[in-house]
Amino acid sequence: MFPPGTGPAADPAGSHHDRRIRSFQPRRSRVTHGQRTALNRLWPRWGLDIDGQRVLDLPALFGTLPADAPIVLEIGFGMGEATARMAAADPGTGILACDVHTPGQGNLLKLADEQGLTNVRVANGDAVILLQKMLPPASLAGLRVYFPDPWPKKRHHKRRIIQPAFLDLAAGPLAPGALVHCATDWEPYAEQMLDVLTAHPAYENTQPDGGFAPRPAERPLTKFEEQGLGKGHTVRDLLFRRVAD
Ligand SMILES: C[S@@+](CC[C@H](N)C(=O)[O-])C[C@H]1O[C@@H](n2cnc3c(N)ncnc32)[C@H](O)[C@@H]1O
Repeated sequence: MFPPGTGPAADPAGSHHDRRIRSFQPRRSRVTHGQRTALNRLWPRWGLDIDGQRVLDLPALFGTLPADAPIVLEIGFGMGEATARMAAADPGTGILACDVHTPGQGNLLKLADEQGLTNVRVANGDAVILLQKMLPPASLAGLRVYFPDPWPKKRHHKRRIIQPAFLDLAAGPLAPGALVHCATDWEPYAEQMLDVLTAHPAYENTQPDGGFAPRPAERPLTKFEEQGLGKGHTVRDLLFRRVAD
């Protein structure tokens, strides 16, 4: 769709034919004129493909921020509205925003440009490969996973991103003290998140009662959350901390 190097690659890690179970469904979706223009203009500066071929130098990637600025990873930003709002509210934090969805990548770049945000970078591809191969140990001050695909059918539960193997992977790039913030409107998935995070030795619950967290004021309403609320779903936030090994 984009000539090499000028936009997000269709299969950056060359792995769509692997038999690995993924948490997303490859889909074709229409990129609007505005999203395409933003991708053409801003991808070379603010975008990166998750090709699994190099370890990122995060201070260099967020060159406009001080070298010791905290960097958080957001997995699955969708159309990026909530990401842009969080970036605007906290300009001293770099947000490495990862998704596979091209229209959303264009939309987030467009929002960042319109709002003059310089603390967002857009990573195209599977977050699992990013965590596994491209992030240095203890390089992240936080991880955000808001309304990940719930995969409600039992035979699809294995596709849910929050599970023990994913938490093992994330423990490497997360610095001690890093906050892991998840949210979902799918109650059985919320229970699963609470169970696997509680059971994992690399994380501790920030809530003294070991339960869900009150919604933090700094998390904006997301698109999927709005849809869930419209269906009468209860939204759960989970706030865990990466503990020192
Ligand atoms: C249900 S949507 C939620 C989007 C947004 N956070 C919101 O609340 O509106 C989940 C998003 O996660 C993305 N996603 C799922 N698995 C992913 C993965 N392994 N790597 C990167 N993005 C992923 C999907 O493409 C989708 O955009």
